[in-house]
Amino acid sequence: MAKPKVIITRRWPQGAEQAMQKHFDVTLNEDDVPMTTAQLQDALRNYDAVCPTVSDKVNAEVLDINGIQAKILGNYGVGFNHIDLDAAKKQGLVVTNTPEVLTDCTADLAMTLLFMIARRAGEGERHVRNREWTGWRPTHMMGTSITGKTLGLVGMGRIARAMAHKAHFGFGMQILFHDPYPPPKEVVDALGAKQCDSIEDVLRQADFVSLHCPGGKETYHLINEERLAQMKPGAFLVNSARGDVIDQQALIAALQNSTIAGAALDVYEGEPNVPAELLGMDNVVLLPHLGSATLETRMAMGMRVFDNLVAFFDGKEPGDRVV
Ligand code: DGY
Repeated sequence: MAKPKVIITRRWPQGAEQAMQKHFDVTLNEDDVPMTTAQLQDALRNYDAVCPTVSDKVNAEVLDINGIQAKILGNYGVGFNHIDLDAAKKQGLVVTNTPEVLTDCTADLAMTLLFMIARRAGEGERHVRNREWTGWRPTHMMGTSITGKTLGLVGMGRIARAMAHKAHFGFGMQILFHDPYPPPKEVVDALGAKQCDSIEDVLRQADFVSLHCPGGKETYHLINEERLAQMKPGAFLVNSARGDVIDQQALIAALQNSTIAGAALDVYEGEPNVPAELLGMDNVVLLPHLGSATLETRMAMGMRVFDNLVAFFDGKEPGDRVV
């Protein structure tokens, strides 16, 4: 029997591509340039499986075509807000993602952001590289201590829980969170965490606020001008979730007006564009969407897509089915 035809929209670590190539008839995007709407539509018409990722907008327009051959979208990544699930469902597509394998890696990156903004790491590095450092002195680049401070988590899914574990047991931080679908009490208790009834409760009390909710319509601009105003003036905002969870213009204003002390961002509205205002601020850490970017994790994500496709084409239920 002919192998299923699979297209992978961006380059993966070599080992994961090779595993796919052994099992499927694979087309790679050799140049690794994001595919256009027309190219994604061609992929849907000509392949049995399309494996997109966060940089592909598989929206209603892309999916509004006749003659789809694809049966499954094997998404490379845990987040799937770049895929219009209703439109995919209408086309009879199964959609899978890659949860769990990137949990610790992304939580580590959220901690990295927290450390970088608290201890002015990006600013300090630029200072040394620009040959501006004139030597040690007691008042030079004083940051903010982390140990014993309060970390407020917006969303308490896997990544937030992993961050809570690291922050509480590693750095003695107090953990607060709000999630409309909170984890079971024993999970909360094991993390020494305190559940808050509202996002505002978290924002008012936390020294560091870290966002861990999914992207999409329900969380669009969840952190807006009013909510930023609820944060302590000395608090920092950390985002490793999705860019449009924050109203970026409201954040810029809050930073300019010292409503909050700083922000550490790995994700942006309209990625990869980053507003000039943010680029010019020293109390902002800016990383290029590195949450899951370790070789081990990116390999594991590829193998998770592989497992989902193998199960699907063997007529079984893929482990990570979203729709
Ligand atoms: C995800 O998995 O959703 C990440 O944002 C991509 O690393």
